[in-house]
Amino acid sequence: MSVLDIRIIGDPVLRQKSKEIDIVDEKLLKLASDMIETMHNANGLGLAANQVGIPLRLIVLNLKDIGVGKKDIVLINPEVVYSEGSSIEEEGCLSIPGLYTELERPYYVEVEAQELKLPKGKLRNVRIKGEDLYARALLHEIDHINGILFVDRLDDIKRRIVLAKWKREHPEYS
Ligand code: CO
Repeated sequence: MSVLDIRIIGDPVLRQKSKEIDIVDEKLLKLASDMIETMHNANGLGLAANQVGIPLRLIVLNLKDIGVGKKDIVLINPEVVYSEGSSIEEEGCLSIPGLYTELERPYYVEVEAQELKLPKGKLRNVRIKGEDLYARALLHEIDHINGILFVDRLDDIKRRIVLAKWKREHPEYS
């Protein structure tokens, strides 16, 4: 396994709508396990493949830190099929390091996907029901593969303010 470079806001790959995955091969298994290592190395709750430069519909989530499981989950072609409620919590993103701001999202979601089991690459269809932080993490990562960053979901004025402040505080990323 290896730690991959995480792409930062401004990189066009973060704006790409990622492609459906129809073949699970060795290369994809390697990408998934590298993403897991990269997520843990950065202390993240989740990571999407385009954050490491690969525009495929693949996300990983750290279920232990989210508080809903013992380990990590790898999802292929995840799709939100239902959402309900509302919650406002602070959110951040490994592609905008150091920017945390409150964002409203649904409190509960249901997501259909194929779960990829490592290391062998066994696949199974799943319908995940997530609430609170788990719902937020699923929605955040699925947004990524659709080319959406969490700051895009803020209203215009708030987005401009928090991004301007972040850029001032983090000249190293511009
Ligand atoms: Co993110």
